[in-house]
Amino acid sequence: MLGKIKQTKDYIQQKTNFDPEVGIILGTGLGGLADEIKIEHELEYSEIPNFPISTVEGHSGKLLFGTLAGKKVVALKGRFHYYEGYSMQEVTFPVRVFKFLGIKTLIVSNAAGGMNPDFKVGDIMIINDHIHLFPEHPLRGKNYPELGPRFPDMSAVYNQNYIKKAFEIAKERGIKLQQGIYAGIQGPTFETPAEYKYIRTLGADAVGMSTVPETTVAHHMSIPIFAVSIITDSGVPGEIVEITHKEVQEVAQKAEPNMTLIIKELVRSL
Ligand code: HPA
Repeated sequence: MLGKIKQTKDYIQQKTNFDPEVGIILGTGLGGLADEIKIEHELEYSEIPNFPISTVEGHSGKLLFGTLAGKKVVALKGRFHYYEGYSMQEVTFPVRVFKFLGIKTLIVSNAAGGMNPDFKVGDIMIINDHIHLFPEHPLRGKNYPELGPRFPDMSAVYNQNYIKKAFEIAKERGIKLQQGIYAGIQGPTFETPAEYKYIRTLGADAVGMSTVPETTVAHHMSIPIFAVSIITDSGVPGEIVEITHKEVQEVAQKAEPNMTLIIKELVRSL
């Protein structure tokens, strides 16, 4: 594992000679933030040793290097989902490579179903905690002390200063922002009404098929994290309607400019 991470890091450094300060993982329909990055290098996933290849619609597979709001960033355009059949080690591999490339902050976005009745479709929710509901844990198996401890503390996965800053930025710009708990499930089905109710009962405000593996692994490696969901559909009883992946992408794209602005200003402030 460590050998693979180092090999991938060495390849990337040799190709790009770039030291990113911030790592970014872009979710469904949210690739537009990538357009704000002043690109210096691009690597196709297929050319990077040990990198999985993204298969899902709406995710193009490229690693981008450039500047965003004056900061050096590396962005994963197209993430790896557990439901695609990747192992948890594959899903989280890029985050480990990011760490070895030297990132000091991880930013993650996703599309999610909203179960908090105060949320509206199109809202932006800052993730302040999560519930891991995947059937497999990304840190299961041999622990590498070079990466982090065997039993990681999870009392504060999502950085409070970043959350505070995001709310300040949103207030200045008149952008409505929610915050809440994200439940990560394996998918690929969206939830039945009974499942939304069940996951809400567990204490979650939003549910989606990503993010928790990556943020868990990043936190294991002590990387401060900022994560944000776009509420693309409702899991509130009485408001649940039929949804498609395409609709999820469309709603995410509509909410994207405000999310992009918040992330950009947050990156500027780092
Ligand atoms: N459930 C799970 N994943 C999702 C949803 C949802 O309702 N919306 C977008 N991704």
